[in-house]
Amino acid sequence: MPQQVRGVIARSKGAPVELTDIVIPDPGPGEVVVSIAACGVCHTDLTYRDGGINDEFPFLLGHEAAGTVESVGEGVDSVRPGDFVVLNWRAVCGQCRACKRGRPQYCFDTFNATQKMTLTDGTELTPALGIGAFADKTLVHAGQCTKVDPGVDPAVAGLLGCGVMAGLGAAVNTGGVGRGDSVAVIGCGGVGDAAIAGARLAGASPIIAVDRDARKLEWARDLGATHTVDATETDAVAAIQELTGGFGADVVIDAVGRPETWKQAFYARDLAGTVVLVGVPTPDMRLEMPLLDFFSRGGALKSSWYGDCLPERDFPVLIDLHQQGRLPLDRFVSERISLGDVENAFHTMHAGEVLRSVVIL
Ligand SMILES: NC(=O)c1ccc[n+]([C@@H]2O[C@H](COP(=O)([O-])OP(=O)(O)OC[C@H]3O[C@@H](n4cnc5c(N)ncnc54)[C@H](O)[C@@H]3O)[C@@H](O)[C@H]2O)c1
Ligand SMILES: [Zn+2]
Ligand SMILES: [Zn+2]
Repeated sequence: MPQQVRGVIARSKGAPVELTDIVIPDPGPGEVVVSIAACGVCHTDLTYRDGGINDEFPFLLGHEAAGTVESVGEGVDSVRPGDFVVLNWRAVCGQCRACKRGRPQYCFDTFNATQKMTLTDGTELTPALGIGAFADKTLVHAGQCTKVDPGVDPAVAGLLGCGVMAGLGAAVNTGGVGRGDSVAVIGCGGVGDAAIAGARLAGASPIIAVDRDARKLEWARDLGATHTVDATETDAVAAIQELTGGFGADVVIDAVGRPETWKQAFYARDLAGTVVLVGVPTPDMRLEMPLLDFFSRGGALKSSWYGDCLPERDFPVLIDLHQQGRLPLDRFVSERISLGDVENAFHTMHAGEVLRSVVIL
């Protein structure tokens, strides 16, 4: 029997989000219904609401979640009712050209549920990143569910579903940060701070945090930055060079995603170093630079989708490291809110007052 539950939707471009009744179908083949325990508020939810992703309104928002499997459809044997899972938005297909070449982290044909969740009048909803977890329950593909230790706080576990995994993976997976590497991170929100935490875990030193907000720099230090640079007072490139013997950092991560921050990352990097773009630019942004600089400075210019993670490989390990006290994921949870507070949380996020607001169900 389809179930009626509460969900937070964005009905039209820029309009405040609404808490309303939605309908969840029974899981079909390969599908799973998950009872949501916690879901973080990510910048991308706001981008959906503002029409920055696509025009497929109404959206069911929320995509950074953990919960318990309620029911599974035909052919699902990877999870069972009662399993505690973190949801992911890149369930690899195993069949596409990237997967076949042994690079499943780039999968070009990731799985989502095939059935639609709807409003009570039958209007089909587009779930944010194929998840839609600002809701009591949601319908996903079985591959989007990764089992983790049920002993962990769901608010913490859910963070791995997006921003924290993206940032940490940008450093460790995409940037290949290792022991002794110098690292700089531009933009210290949830994503940038996760990159800092990842760099610390990997043994990097120094770890330089750059932001325009003094509060953010304080949190960055708390998560592992050895030095901080206030970009409103100091030239970020010169400061990073000064802190790295005049050369620049081995890996510079742009966790803002603007032409000016990317350029800073490019020039704050040592010769043959790596730039990782994990912040998401908007379609209007352009970059103009001397092509010779790309050639003569060498190295690697990379983008990071979801931190190049493999959920089955990475989520359980990161939970484990957290439980051992080696990865303070709990510090990313700035406040716990309810389903009706999502619109408010967008304002709090915009004002830079939190790393993550997490909806608790
Ligand atoms: N690549 C992915 O898979 C992926 C996944 C999740 C989020 N993201 C993206 O990562 C980016 C960061 O997300 P977040 O949740 O941390 O956002 P956030 O808004 O919490 O943090 C952004 C930080 O950048 C700082 N900042 C802004 N402009 C700056 C500048 N010119 N110089 C220095 N600092 C500056 C802000 O003060 C803030 O602390 C967003 O673009 C988001 O869409 C990417
Ligand atoms: Zn694939
Ligand atoms: Zn996200």
